Amino acid sequence: MNMVYSYLSLFVFSIVIHLLLIHHQNTVIATDYSNDVSLITKSCSGTEVPSVCTSILEADPRSTATTNLKWLSRVGIDILCKKANETISIFKKAAESETDPSLKQNLEFCGRIFGDCSYVVQHEGIPYFESGDYKSAKMEIYTCCVTASDCQDTGIKLFSKEVQTLYNFSVDMTNFMDMLSSN
Ligand SMILES: *[C@@H]1O[C@H](CO)[C@@H](O)[C@H](O)[C@H]1NC(C)=O
Ligand SMILES: *[C@@H]1O[C@H](CO)[C@@H](O)[C@H](O)[C@H]1NC(C)=O
Repeated sequence: MNMVYSYLSLFVFSIVIHLLLIHHQNTVIATDYSNDVSLITKSCSGTEVPSVCTSILEADPRSTATTNLKWLSRVGIDILCKKANETISIFKKAAESETDPSLKQNLEFCGRIFGDCSYVVQHEGIPYFESGDYKSAKMEIYTCCVTASDCQDTGIKLFSKEVQTLYNFSVDMTNFMDMLSSN
């Protein structure tokens, strides 16, 4: 009787331990997940266009894995370069098949200036960022805002959504630089 009793209590004890572990595991996973989501949401809420900031960052698996604003910003800058590169391709491709000379020229102009945005952020912005000089990094990222608005000014309606999204995301990343430098 005693043996059965101690066996049973051991059994119950191990179930309790097991449940506690499972519960603990679930809690850890759930907490981490909500932390990731809230880091993006929280950081983007301090930007000028939170919706663009959130949707672009959430679409990249690297940013949902980050745990602080510095790394989230680093991923964001990389996405910005990638998007600028994609925009260059869009304009180059469109320029190739465009027969109207002045529109062709404008399309080529946009492709070229988005090249400046990508180059400057990649070769100057990222090194400044890595060295902790967020104010200078911000100025380099701002090149992309200028690029996007210059391109908008040429009157190209064809890719206005892409250009506007890039403008908005660039502004958001300059806001991230402000948050980092005020820390
Ligand atoms: C953007 O394009 C440049 C030039 O082709 C390349 O060196 C760079 O790695 C690209 N950046 C990204 C993030 O795709
Ligand atoms: C960019 O931001 C402006 C100002 O918040 C907004 O009106 C516009 O709809 C946004 N455009 C895109 C494509 O995100």
